[in-house]
Amino acid sequence: MDLAPFLHPAASAVVYGAGCAARVGAQGPLKRAARVAVITDRGVRGAGLLEGALASLGERAVLIDDGVVPDADARHVDALAARARELGVDGLLAVGGGSVMDTTKGVGAVLTKGRRLAELEGMATIRAPLPPLVCVPTTAGTGSEATQFAVIKDHVEGKKCVLMDSALLPGCAFLDPTLVVGLPRAVTAATGVDAITHALEAVASRLHNPIATALATAALRLLLGDAGALAKSLASPGDVEARGACLVAANLAGQAISSAMLGACHAFGHALGAKKGVPHGVANGVVVVRVLQENLAEARPCYQQVARALGLSDADALVAAVEHTVHEVAGMPRTLGALGVDDGDLEELVRLTLDDADLGTNPVLFDEAAVRGVLRSLLGEGPASR
Ligand SMILES: [Fe+2]
Repeated sequence: MDLAPFLHPAASAVVYGAGCAARVGAQGPLKRAARVAVITDRGVRGAGLLEGALASLGERAVLIDDGVVPDADARHVDALAARARELGVDGLLAVGGGSVMDTTKGVGAVLTKGRRLAELEGMATIRAPLPPLVCVPTTAGTGSEATQFAVIKDHVEGKKCVLMDSALLPGCAFLDPTLVVGLPRAVTAATGVDAITHALEAVASRLHNPIATALATAALRLLLGDAGALAKSLASPGDVEARGACLVAANLAGQAISSAMLGACHAFGHALGAKKGVPHGVANGVVVVRVLQENLAEARPCYQQVARALGLSDADALVAAVEHTVHEVAGMPRTLGALGVDDGDLEELVRLTLDDADLGTNPVLFDEAAVRGVLRSLLGEGPASR
């Protein structure tokens, strides 16, 4: 085995089980916190998903904020941190999807460093422990509860603020399948595809390593195929076991990307999100098979290893399995046209994709011509279009 040096970050603790969110105040990092800030969004609160956690914390929940917006908001993070400081907050609880969890990480970073979020952008800018931070994901995709990343948008400057620091790893994730059984079909599908994409990008990344690959392979084993947990969750939304398996898979894939980072799917996906407002998982879904096909030139052995572990014949069979799950099972569109993208968007999408840091860890170099070629083919102008 040709093993390059690597660094795999520490993992967050995981508590799994139906109803476990109702124990966040009694078990794990918040057990000894006296003044907890609970951060969520209106949808999560309106769906009643906060109730168990709030009952568990009782009067220790001194701040409850449901103002998280899609993509999170840097100014909201700064304002929340200021309120938390005034209230003497000594514990943080995120109940929600990726934006809620990233907001909460951002609040922890600002509280710890006493600086504005924008000043903490970049790698290893925190290097000090955050207040005890617990995540309760209410979607099964982002995996943010298991990563050392936070991505928070500066809506005034119109740009993303990306933080990467091992201090951002939450102390514990409570994976409670009863919180995801009510997810709408479209969200279940898109977030599941996001998790699949995380796993696939991690195994082929320039920073791939055996630990990340093992975690990602386990995620793919749970998610892919007609008998996989994503297919079962879509066919039977009330299937708590399948929902739970999706949560576990998203966590495994999150751990994998926290170690090995991402790749070109996410670079294209971020561009489509920024320019056209395409939901993150859908944007990944439309490009993932095309990127895998390009990546085979360099990453075939990586995919081959995963394929064998999953009982598939070879890397091409893995790509076929991904195509089936993403497009047939999860119903992701096959063309950019279906997302409202047209020729007029092409050059800005090329620029945004080339500017994205995730392109740097993709196994195959995507230069300007290659990026344009992929986007063209997905618009329906190339041989790979369907
Ligand atoms: Fe993602």
